[in-house]
Amino acid sequence: MNILIAGAKGTGKSAIGRELSALSGLGIVETDEIIEDIYERENGKHFSCRQIYLEKGAEYFRSLESQAARMAAEKDWHFIILGGSILMNPDTRRLLRNNSMMVFLTCPYEMGWGRIEKGGLPPWLDGPDGKEKYRNEVSYRNEVLMPFADIVMDSSQGKPLELAEQVVELIKEELSIRSRAANTYGQIIQITTFGESHGPAIGAILDGVRPGLEITEEEIQIQLNRRRPGQSEYVTPRSEKDRVHILSGVFNGKSTGAPIAMVVYNEDQDSSKYEGIKDMFRPGHADFTFYKKYGIRDYRGGGRSSGRETAGRVMCGAIARKVMASRGVEFIAHAKEIGGVKAEKCDYGIIESNPVRCGDAEAAVKMQEVILAAKDEENSVGGIVQLEIKGVPAGLGDPIFDKLDARLCKALFSLGATKGIEVGKGFELTRMKGSESNDWMGDGGFRSNNAGGITGGISTGQDIVIRIGVKPTSSISSRQETIDIKGNDTEIETHGRHDPCIVPRVIPVIESMAALVIWDAWETQCCISPDWNKGKG
Ligand SMILES: Cc1cc2nc3c(=O)[nH]c(=O)nc-3n(C[C@H](O)[C@H](O)[C@H](O)COP(=O)(O)O)c2cc1C
Repeated sequence: MNILIAGAKGTGKSAIGRELSALSGLGIVETDEIIEDIYERENGKHFSCRQIYLEKGAEYFRSLESQAARMAAEKDWHFIILGGSILMNPDTRRLLRNNSMMVFLTCPYEMGWGRIEKGGLPPWLDGPDGKEKYRNEVSYRNEVLMPFADIVMDSSQGKPLELAEQVVELIKEELSIRSRAANTYGQIIQITTFGESHGPAIGAILDGVRPGLEITEEEIQIQLNRRRPGQSEYVTPRSEKDRVHILSGVFNGKSTGAPIAMVVYNEDQDSSKYEGIKDMFRPGHADFTFYKKYGIRDYRGGGRSSGRETAGRVMCGAIARKVMASRGVEFIAHAKEIGGVKAEKCDYGIIESNPVRCGDAEAAVKMQEVILAAKDEENSVGGIVQLEIKGVPAGLGDPIFDKLDARLCKALFSLGATKGIEVGKGFELTRMKGSESNDWMGDGGFRSNNAGGITGGISTGQDIVIRIGVKPTSSISSRQETIDIKGNDTEIETHGRHDPCIVPRVIPVIESMAALVIWDAWETQCCISPDWNKGKG
């Protein structure tokens, strides 16, 4: 992340930039200085930008500007003072704007002209019509470049130090807006969720969907029903119908290319149970941390941190699954372990026919017993979900920071109650020798899949296998020790309607998040190499 200081010549970029650097302790580079250094290296003598332009002409100067832009863009957490026309070139503009914030300085052109006359006019402004040229230049640059700015500052309104102090405040504000905006996931296929557990509605906006995709509320409803509360005695009895309403982005049954907004209304919320504990922090919940972070929290049912937020992910996930199914990719998650009871096998055909969503019929019965026993004791249990993604071709995932496993883990860790994730053999690999853990190759493929279908952050073409550790539900009715918002010791009992085990209901959510990740990674790969999967989907 860099902070670009831009604006027409004479707007005080260097003076304000120096003050900004002194105030913040961040480094500073000037593209004009980089240009002069490159020239000196190539020609053995130091010339000012003005002299370089006069000596070598516009084309040569522009090539130095491009080199300077590349070198400046490699910096991190620096103020970059942009000279000349460096932002007028779309290539250098794209390069510099990537992962940066732009402060754009303006001032009345007479003032700017006065400043640059003092320092020596650049060659393109020498001559009788120089002032008029400058005036046109300033208004043209302002018009073209100001829309890219995050902060615009009139530099005629104070001394460089005062202006820099104001810019620092605006930069802080901009940074806090950027760092707070964590309700959206994805680069091309973007999902934003909104709503609280006890608010009027919860929902999501899915953006980036190409026009013409057939979408019905019924197909979204099928997935929502799998997540819905009140499905059995093993999950929360809160009786929500969770009926989806598509508000935008679909016309005559087809996506229009506009954002697809979807909601379900909260109909069975009962906030009265939370009145008595609104000033206490429920152990295991996000109450304490939300209060410390935001200084305010919606105490009704966990507000934003509630598992109910995941309904929005399932709505978008239903669309993602449909698109990915048409490309041959399938998402299957199932209970691998609940309350210490392990599934020894997985028959995909029976996962949806038992309430805990386990592929081992015998283990499923024991899992149900363990959940009911915990419920009787006013307690809860956790478990492990295994996610299998089938049909992903080799080549998805973007090293370094968007490796496919990194993306999947981020998305899955964003789910409440996720406390551990293993990819492939996971921690078991740490106890193997290299000769055992390596997936040997032969006959045009792999002979094993210890890596879980991802190597080097890129899909191998095998099944992607991930296990997600889900903690026991935090809400339990038995008495627990805690503190209140004044820090006093107290005791709490939570009598809402809760999942005694989160595993069965989180399964469709896990599949949904995985589908959104794979879809987004797929679209990203299509940008890098449109033909990467030609003929395969
Ligand atoms: C589908 C789903 C349902 C959930 N239901 C409950 C619940 O009924 N009671 C509860 O205490 N936590 C429930 N949670 C978990 C909480 O949201 C989560 O534990 C809490 O916000 C604390 O966050 P953390 O566990 O990630 O640290 C649920 C989570 C999901 C994904």
